Amino acid sequence: MSNIDQYAVFGHPINHSKSPRIHTLFAEQTKQTLDYTSQDVPAELFTSAIAEFFKQGGKGLNCTVPLKELAWDRADTLSERAQFSKAVNTLVLQEDGTLLGDNTDGLGLVADLTVNHGISLNNKRILILGAGGASRGIIGPLMEKSPVGIVIANRTVEKAIALSHEFSQLGEIAGCAYEALKGFSFDLILNATSASLTGELPPLTDNLLAENGCCYDLAYGNQPTAFVKWGVAQGAIKSLDGLGMLVEQAAEAFFVWRGVRPETKEIIKLLNSERA
Ligand code: ATR
Repeated sequence: MSNIDQYAVFGHPINHSKSPRIHTLFAEQTKQTLDYTSQDVPAELFTSAIAEFFKQGGKGLNCTVPLKELAWDRADTLSERAQFSKAVNTLVLQEDGTLLGDNTDGLGLVADLTVNHGISLNNKRILILGAGGASRGIIGPLMEKSPVGIVIANRTVEKAIALSHEFSQLGEIAGCAYEALKGFSFDLILNATSASLTGELPPLTDNLLAENGCCYDLAYGNQPTAFVKWGVAQGAIKSLDGLGMLVEQAAEAFFVWRGVRPETKEIIKLLNSERA
């Protein structure tokens, strides 16, 4: 067992994860001594891998696709934001040996939108594409910023409707099929589908984006995603991918683990320059 505090990200696939680099940069910046590695863990090995990691002295873990729901099940206790989102991206070893499950994704998205890009959500009409785990994690933090409401569109319409019902106590939230969006327009369109991962695009029609509207893909890549390109073609004043969200959710996880909040601006700039 190393006496340096150990952290890691588990996921499958994991080889392109930027999290080890981001957390290493955070540690250097804040002068914290820790190790952060990545581990390829398919869902069926999650339970054993997690037990081994904490047995070996692990202090905290990030979980990404496809493990966030499993991490939610595994956590002994949950933060309020994780409870709501039914997904955990951050596990924290507590002093009594139990695991606290947290979810920093929604806060990461909202910080990137509002702080880094100056996009106000107040009184805005928001469209979320997709009704999976990624959508579930962002609805609560978005609603806290007082938009007019959120529409969730999904290929499998039943999932969009079920999700909208689950969050209905937060305000105006509706679920529908893509075809039902015809005639409506939105100030902010967020792509929370996994379509970007395979270079696909949800079936979107023209005129969905209001004048001066913005697009944001929760996914990111070295090249603009199909959805980011769609946003540009639709005249979005900003069409962004999720690199900033990735750094912001990591900064919040780092804060939860270490009690120190890293500065994100320079790190986002550095990662952006590396993919140019
Ligand atoms: P995650 O946890 O990353 O959200 P998920 O739970 O598998 O992943 O959900 C993936 C989402 O992307 C779903 O909303 C899925 O739509 P369905 O529920 O109809 O399957 C959506 N999705 C994936 N590929 C898509 C595509 N090519 N076009 C439109 N939606 C797609």
